[in-house]
Amino acid sequence: MTSLESVLRDASLLVTCGPGGVGKTTTAAALALAAAETGRRVIVVTVDPARRLADTLGIVDSAGADDPCEVIGATGNPDGSLWAQMLDAESTFDRMITDRAPDQQRAQSILSNPIYRSIAGSLAGAQEYMAIERLHQLSTGGDYDLIVIDTPPSRHAIDLLGAPDRLVTFFSHPVYRVLTVPGRSLARVTNAGSAAFLWAIRRLAGPKVVEDAIEFFRALSGMEAGLRQRASETAAILRDERTAFVLVSSPRAEAIDEAAHLAGALRDGGYPLQAMVINLVNPTPLPLGVELPDLAAGPLADQVELHRELSALAADEAKEMLALRALAHELPLIEVPLLDDVQDLVGLAGLSQYLLER
Ligand SMILES: Nc1ncnc2c1ncn2[C@@H]1O[C@H](COP(=O)(O)OP(=O)(O)OP(=O)(O)O)[C@@H](O)[C@H]1O
Ligand SMILES: [Mg+2]
Repeated sequence: MTSLESVLRDASLLVTCGPGGVGKTTTAAALALAAAETGRRVIVVTVDPARRLADTLGIVDSAGADDPCEVIGATGNPDGSLWAQMLDAESTFDRMITDRAPDQQRAQSILSNPIYRSIAGSLAGAQEYMAIERLHQLSTGGDYDLIVIDTPPSRHAIDLLGAPDRLVTFFSHPVYRVLTVPGRSLARVTNAGSAAFLWAIRRLAGPKVVEDAIEFFRALSGMEAGLRQRASETAAILRDERTAFVLVSSPRAEAIDEAAHLAGALRDGGYPLQAMVINLVNPTPLPLGVELPDLAAGPLADQVELHRELSALAADEAKEMLALRALAHELPLIEVPLLDDVQDLVGLAGLSQYLLER
C-alpha cells in the first residue's frame, strides 16, 4: 500500500481534485511544502487561493502572476525549494498561443483579436483546460522535480479530465471547419447550419464581429495540428505512472457523492488515483463522564447542549465516511481534522503532518 509520503517522494506530478470548498487548494499547498521539506524542487500551481494563503505563498500580486515565485523561508532543507504560481486562465492561453503559433505575426493577430480576448477568459471549461495546459508547459520545462496542480471545483470530473479531448472536438466542429476553409469569404459560406449561425451572430453583434471571428479562427487553424498534439501529450502525462491524483472531500453527504462520482471517472479513465483525503472532519468530543440529565437543567445547560450537538455531528460524519472508506478499497484514506488556521506556513506544516499520518 502506498502512502502519501511515498507519493511525495516518487511522483513528478500530483493533482488535487474534488468537490468545491473541501480544501483542495490548501491540501495542494501543504503537500507541496512537505515535498520541498524532503529536498525536492517543487512548484504548486493554485486556483483562487484564500487571501491569506495567497499572501503566504507570495502570489497575491496578480500583475506578475504568470511567473512562479519562490516561497522564501518555506523549508529548512537547503536542497528543497517551494515555488508557487496562481493559475490565470487568460495568460496561460496567451502563452499557449505564443508558443504554438507558426510565427510572431500570426501570434499577434490572434492575441489582439477581440474574439480571442473574449474567449480566452470565459470559454466554458477554459479554467479546467488551462490547469491542464499549464501542466504541460511546466512538465516539459523540466525546472521542477514535482509539480503540484490544484484544480477548480469539478462539478463533473469530465469537465476537467475531458478538457484535452474537448479541444480536439472544437476543431472538428462543422462551423469551425467552414470558417477556416482557406480563401472562402463569408458570402460564400453555403452550409445551412453555419450560415444561420453567422447570420445570428451578425444580427446580435454586427458584421465586424463576424469578420473578427473568421479572422481569429483562420489564424488559429494554422496551429491546429500543434494543439491536437499537445492535447494528446497532456492526456498521456495525466495517466503516467509518476502522476498521482489525490481526491479531497469533506465528510458531508453531498461532497461525498460528488467525490464518489469523481473517483469512478478517474478509475474509468485510467487516471492514477493514489490517495483520498477526508478534510475538515469535526473532532468527536470526549464523553462527559457524567449523566447528562444531571447537568442539562443546571448552569452548564448551554455547554451540555453544544456537547450533544458536536457529538451528533461527529457521529453523522463518521457514518458518511463509511461510504468513502468503501470507495477507497486499498488506497490510503487520510482523515484531517478541522484545524485552527491553515493559511500560514506553520498551519500548512501542521496540516502536512496529518496528511503524512505522523
Ligand atoms: N483542515 C482544515 N482546517 C481548517 N480550515 C481548513 C482546513 N482545510 C481547509 N480549510 C479552509 O477552508 C477554506 C477552503 O479551503 P480551500 O480553498 O483549500 O478549498 P478548495 O477545495 O480549494 O475550495 P474551492 O473549491 O473553492 O477551490 C479555506 O478558508 C481554508 O483555509
Ligand atoms: Mg481551490
